[in-house]
Amino acid sequence: MKKFLLSLVSLLIIFQSQVNADEGMWIPLLIEKYNIQDMQAKGFKLDAEDIYSINQACIKDAIVIFGRGCTGELVSDQGLLLTNHHCGFGAIQKHSSVEHDYLKDGFWAMNKDQELPNPDLTVRFLNSIEDVTDAVLNGVTKDISEQERESIIKLNIEKIKTESVKDTTLIASIKPFYYGNQYFLFVYQEYKDVRLVGAPPSSIGKFGGDTDNWMWPRHTGDFSIFRIYADKNNNPAEYSPENVPYKPKKFLPISIKGINEGDFTWVIGYPGGTTQYITSDAIRLIKDVRNPNQIKLRDKRLEIMNRYMENNDTIRIKYASKNAGISNSWKRWKGEIIGLNRLDVINKKIELGNKFNTWANQNNRTEYIGVLDELSEIYSSIEEYAIAYDYWRESVLGIEIIDFVSDFDKIVKLAKSDVNSDELIEERDDLIKSSEKFFKDYVKSIDKETFEALIPLYYEDVNGKYHPNIENLDLNKSLNDYTDNLYEITIFTKKDKLIQLLSEGSKEEIAQLASDPVYGFYKEFSNIYNNLVYPVYDSLQTKSEKLYRSYMRGLQEMNPDKVYYPDANFTMRVSYGNVEGFTPRDAVEYNYYTTLDGVIEKDNPEIYDYDVPDQLKKVYNEKNFGRYAVNGTVPVCFIATNHTTGGNSGSPVLDAEGNLIGLNFDRAWDGIMSDMMFDPERSRNVTIDIRYLLFIVDKFAGARNLINEMTIIE
Ligand code: ARG
Ligand code: GLU
Repeated sequence: MKKFLLSLVSLLIIFQSQVNADEGMWIPLLIEKYNIQDMQAKGFKLDAEDIYSINQACIKDAIVIFGRGCTGELVSDQGLLLTNHHCGFGAIQKHSSVEHDYLKDGFWAMNKDQELPNPDLTVRFLNSIEDVTDAVLNGVTKDISEQERESIIKLNIEKIKTESVKDTTLIASIKPFYYGNQYFLFVYQEYKDVRLVGAPPSSIGKFGGDTDNWMWPRHTGDFSIFRIYADKNNNPAEYSPENVPYKPKKFLPISIKGINEGDFTWVIGYPGGTTQYITSDAIRLIKDVRNPNQIKLRDKRLEIMNRYMENNDTIRIKYASKNAGISNSWKRWKGEIIGLNRLDVINKKIELGNKFNTWANQNNRTEYIGVLDELSEIYSSIEEYAIAYDYWRESVLGIEIIDFVSDFDKIVKLAKSDVNSDELIEERDDLIKSSEKFFKDYVKSIDKETFEALIPLYYEDVNGKYHPNIENLDLNKSLNDYTDNLYEITIFTKKDKLIQLLSEGSKEEIAQLASDPVYGFYKEFSNIYNNLVYPVYDSLQTKSEKLYRSYMRGLQEMNPDKVYYPDANFTMRVSYGNVEGFTPRDAVEYNYYTTLDGVIEKDNPEIYDYDVPDQLKKVYNEKNFGRYAVNGTVPVCFIATNHTTGGNSGSPVLDAEGNLIGLNFDRAWDGIMSDMMFDPERSRNVTIDIRYLLFIVDKFAGARNLINEMTIIE
């Protein structure tokens, strides 16, 4: 018996050395090869072909890229789509005004005629994935320069892309994996008529706001509902009232059977970006320099914005989306610092580096000897540029009007040149549109204060080599007079005048924008950035890419039995793990789920983020939970060990049979450094339980029409 146990243990160890428990974001095309055995051993009941296949409808056909940075999934044969509230936020906000405040009150289409079109919103279905490494690297040899390599690859990529979607309306994209050791082609079909169907009030969809963001325990009903429309032949079409609901190849059945701790669970979606293989120097730069700087600059912006938003509903609506975006990364950066320290990531990376060097030396792998030293040198050279780069983006472009003005570079250039009037006309139209958008949500006094707070920090913290000399800007006194004057005389704070100029102004008048003081201010900084900062920063980055390409290949050779998953790059991935609580610190245990009782416990009408809507309290008091009830309450969120990141928002969280059990929307604070190093003890993805979603749609909103469309397994 003992012997048997021993061999079982060693078998397990061998098996585990192939794929790490829970960690990893895997390529759907390669599940069959690398993961399916492990997944099935852990409880998965389907086959790889059920997830990804080009021969049959499969789960990937029910998944979309939602907008520009989220995931969504289809849940009915009429194109009904679920994603997060914070993913639909922009669309919900655009339809909102003080009179129809859908952010505040929620929105429910009780029939299809009430669904609201969103001209800028698209979704993309993935048709196929293909390994095109050989074709992309065709002509690349060992002895060519990095620049030559890049230009050969670029040409190859263009050629493959064009051929792969010739005579179709499909979209091709080729992305590097493992720092360019491998390339995959992704072919997408885009749909352009996507309508808003439902959204809970923010007091549910964003419950807990930025205080609870990135935290567990969590009580947020972070979902919204859309519908994809197509032309009569089910093909993509621009918005038209004639369009009909899209008929998907596949939609997800929903299970409300409930979940238990330990259950197998998986996520399929679009994680945006991770850096799992960076070195100790890279971690140090992020943890000790870049994150702290960026946090400091956003502290200022948020403090100013929050002050204005607190007591003014109009401003709150205007700045809601901006504020959420700024505070989201700001808070994640803070959590990353804590997590990287606690997990002692720097020392772990140093250890790995030492092991790598020893291996390379002992085996005389000359192409890998010295790679890490060279990378280390790059990190010491890049620091001052990285600081200037971050301050350019977070302080200079953190000022709204400067960011806005940066869009006018092209038109100024066109107006000054004497060719191509068509282009100028097109540019005028684009800028009229973007100006309308800009002024819709712009509050000058917030921006002025932000300017006064951020510009001095640039001069304090960025190396003097990158300080522009700005006339009349005296940093020894308050900038108040300076900005009063600047914001008064510039045309870029005057909507009507600016739009009139763009629509009716002569070419000469448009060229005059170059002498606008805000434009001039922007130019002083952008010249420095474009000439002294970015080129060096970029070339150091390119050099590091090349070194990482070797390092990555070397790591794989050093551990031939281990399957390395590629960094996330906003391509479709599968993560899998278990429903599981965790212990964040001594004496504290986190349960794996939260309930409606917890929502009510947090209720506080005095605090905007915790003001539970009366209607929800009413349903709660009546205990009108229907089939969504468990032990006299409704489950709200749960956590699991799936490895996810930004972009996975809205991703379906599925059970072993491929039924939808929730929507991914966040990660828990204590394991948030998982973009750089996953901690199986603490890294958890946060999911809204599908039963809470259905309960809100059904019992809170009374939108039975939507429930009836779905396939619900009890
Ligand atoms: N942290 C989640 C994500 O990264 C949710 C962000 C939106 N919510 C918020 N309170 N800002 O996207
Ligand atoms: N909220 C994130 C998103 O918008 C997902 C959370 C994460 O970063 O894991 O994609």
